[in-house]
Amino acid sequence: MVWLGPPLLLAILFLASHVGAAVDLTLLANLRLTDPQRFFLTCVSGEAGSGRGSDAWAPPLLLEKDDRVVRTLPPGQPLRLARNGSHQVTLRGFSKPSDLVGVFSCVGGAGARRTRVLYVHNSPGAHLLPDKVTHTVNKGDTAVLSAHVLKEKQTDVIWKSNGSYFYTLDWHEARDGRFLLQLPNVQPSSSGVYSATYLEASPLGSAFFRLIVRGWEPCGYFLWVRCGAGRWGPGCAKECPGCLHGGVCHDHDGECVCPPGFTGTRCEQACREGRFGQSCQEQCLGTSGCRGLTFCLPDPYGCSCGSGWRGSQCQEACAPGHFGADCRLQCQCQNGGTCDRFSGCVCPSGWHGVHCEKSDGGDPLRSRTLDEGHFGGHVSAP
Ligand SMILES: *[C@@H]1O[C@H](CO)[C@@H](O)[C@H](O)[C@H]1NC(C)=O
Ligand SMILES: *[C@@H]1O[C@H](CO)[C@@H](O)[C@H](O)[C@H]1NC(C)=O
Repeated sequence: MVWLGPPLLLAILFLASHVGAAVDLTLLANLRLTDPQRFFLTCVSGEAGSGRGSDAWAPPLLLEKDDRVVRTLPPGQPLRLARNGSHQVTLRGFSKPSDLVGVFSCVGGAGARRTRVLYVHNSPGAHLLPDKVTHTVNKGDTAVLSAHVLKEKQTDVIWKSNGSYFYTLDWHEARDGRFLLQLPNVQPSSSGVYSATYLEASPLGSAFFRLIVRGWEPCGYFLWVRCGAGRWGPGCAKECPGCLHGGVCHDHDGECVCPPGFTGTRCEQACREGRFGQSCQEQCLGTSGCRGLTFCLPDPYGCSCGSGWRGSQCQEACAPGHFGADCRLQCQCQNGGTCDRFSGCVCPSGWHGVHCEKSDGGDPLRSRTLDEGHFGGHVSAP
């Protein structure tokens, strides 16, 4: 065997780590646990450099309350970080509901790929609750953040961005029990954590949102460019691969960030029920599977429920005919295909394709049919 000196070995590991530019990092919040003392956050990495492979040099995974964006009161007692191997960390030790308010972040990956994944907690007992927590929009779009009223108060609603005052709405301005913040012509610098709170109410009662704006900062003639969902790179000049199943095209490297429960360069394949991670290598434990879990992935994806689940606490199964993360996808099965809420159309023999629209007969180069077992095992890094 040839002995590779450290510089060459480093170079190889560096190259290997660039296969698949999006970092395989998932921050999970278990929303079934409403008692702060039982609540915990877990961050899981599928990266070779964090204990999956032989690379011992990668910096450790971090999971912490992140007060850089939104300042909150310090927790009642210091939070406890527990490591399980080098690819999984858990944060516990919350003692009161306000310990959960604010932003949490997990940092993983090595070198230039070091990535921060954010989670914002919404208390089930809040006055206001976001209709949707993560808003991923494109530069130049209009973003509409919508907070619906759970407990009415006859006072103004204060919107904040990154913890600083942003806008006030009079309580008469509620429409259909909702307070809307419209942000026209958003720019990447408009990205951040937004919140809506009744005047003089505790931050515990707030609705917290994340706004993620895809696209590059304006510079020179790129100023006018609207970066459509299907484009990436400087000036949004390059075309995305066409991410499926709710995958989001990364604006800086053109790769698809796949929703939990989907894999492949275009997120074309569903994992087995209860599986997640870039190669479906992780599994939701326990009898309820991924029910009640919020999954946060690297931007521009943000957070969602796992595949097959929806609702603010991710506890509701998809309605018939719907599937995927947050049940955002609709089955349109043809030729007798049936809708599975985790994977979409399940085709009868003789048919394949997303809608079972392709006949097995005429197409010898047909894509492999979904072999559930195929994704079961741990898939090693290239
Ligand atoms: C640690 O991780 C392993 C493998 O992922 C898992 O089987 C085990 O239950 C975990 N232990 C704890 C205490 O979470
Ligand atoms: C919020 O903070 C982030 C990260 O510090 C920054 O990039 C962004 O521009 C800020 N957004 C606003 C609206 O202040």
